[in-house]
Amino acid sequence: MNASLVPLYTAHLATLRKHADAALALGGFDHLLVAAGTPLGKFLDDQDYPFVANPHFRHWLPLADAPGSWIAYTPGAKPKLVFVQPRDYWHVVPEAPHGYWVEHFDIVTVRSAAEAVAQLPKGHSAVLAPACPAIDGVTANNPQAVLDYLHWHRSYKTPYELALMREASRIGARAHRAAEAAFRAGESEFGIHLAYLAAARQTDAELPYASIVGLNEHGAVLHYMHFDRTPPAGHRSFLIDAGASCAGYASDITRTYAAHGHAGFQALVESMDAAQQGFVARVRAGQGYPELHIHAHHVIAGVLREHGLIRMSAEGAVESGVTSAFFPHGLGHSIGLQVHDVAGFQQGEHGGSIPRPEGHPYLRMTRVLQPGMVVTIEPGLYFIDMLLAGLRDKPVAADIDWARVDAFRPYGGIRIEDDVACTDGAPENLTRDAFARPD
Ligand code: GLY
Ligand code: MN
Ligand code: MN
Repeated sequence: MNASLVPLYTAHLATLRKHADAALALGGFDHLLVAAGTPLGKFLDDQDYPFVANPHFRHWLPLADAPGSWIAYTPGAKPKLVFVQPRDYWHVVPEAPHGYWVEHFDIVTVRSAAEAVAQLPKGHSAVLAPACPAIDGVTANNPQAVLDYLHWHRSYKTPYELALMREASRIGARAHRAAEAAFRAGESEFGIHLAYLAAARQTDAELPYASIVGLNEHGAVLHYMHFDRTPPAGHRSFLIDAGASCAGYASDITRTYAAHGHAGFQALVESMDAAQQGFVARVRAGQGYPELHIHAHHVIAGVLREHGLIRMSAEGAVESGVTSAFFPHGLGHSIGLQVHDVAGFQQGEHGGSIPRPEGHPYLRMTRVLQPGMVVTIEPGLYFIDMLLAGLRDKPVAADIDWARVDAFRPYGGIRIEDDVACTDGAPENLTRDAFARPD
């Protein structure tokens, strides 16, 4: 893969430089200084939380593990990497820089974060770093105008970034296949999780987010992260929301399975899968994401009717809030260096915010889709007791088949999530393409 990345990375870097030039000009800055950051220490302890490098740093370099290091960019000059490689026999120190990207940087290797700061250019700098870096001699200022400009342009992935996201999807699909096999073999949630990690060949801390592995009713807990150590008495259903990382880029994938012999739930999963693929087909230039989210509510109302869960019209189900009780989160979000990527609400390259449609407080994306954007499409249909209870004393309750609802409660819920790139033409479904590959 590395050889094919060389020209893509060269073009990616040229794009980053162009955007950095424009962003610096907005505030009259001489330099852009980007910290990888330093690990966060645990309170009253001598250990750190897992280190996650500043996404702006990972935008320039495929280095996820370089605490204390900096990128210094001055318009017109070759970017500089100040790379920290401590003298430390307690830990594995970051490997010396190598690979397709090193020739594009002047690299200075130092032994400590403090020495790194001494290598940074002096002048009027935009310093993109966590607000309180435990480093003397440089102050993070994170200028809003610079961030707004860079975040806006991060929405449009370069071909290099798309290549890395395809790879993150490929790793995720491989691990999802292993997880499904573990489910069908009767494993516990914990056992399925271990099978996922083994197939991804990534540790928990390397994944882009904490995996959700829920059997049976647990599929109804949107952020279920408990991992039961023992298998349930019977496996009825399985919801897994788990991603993978590649050179700092994320995939975010959800699948829901019915155990053999559970035909009613299997049919509901198939209807949701067909609905989801219909939404994916609408990831096209000019499509407003909020409109797609509202469209999803109408289609899900149709699924609820088709499966005998509600008797009212689709319009009535959306307007009365019935669909929001079954589908209580947003249709998806932007994804890239962060699983919930920046600028989902941004109005333009100089900031501003596009509000969510009323009644949809959890939607994370209000932009109009354009080529280069990558978004998730993740409709859901759940049987959540707390939300269903809110419907039971409303007039619409008469048009809900509660016995049918009760029959599905032991299955928890369904979510199906793909990562989809908007192009000049048909959408590219990174996730389905990855599942279609043999490994
Ligand atoms: N896994 C987080 C999400 O789907 O947004
Ligand atoms: Mn997601
Ligand atoms: Mn997800």
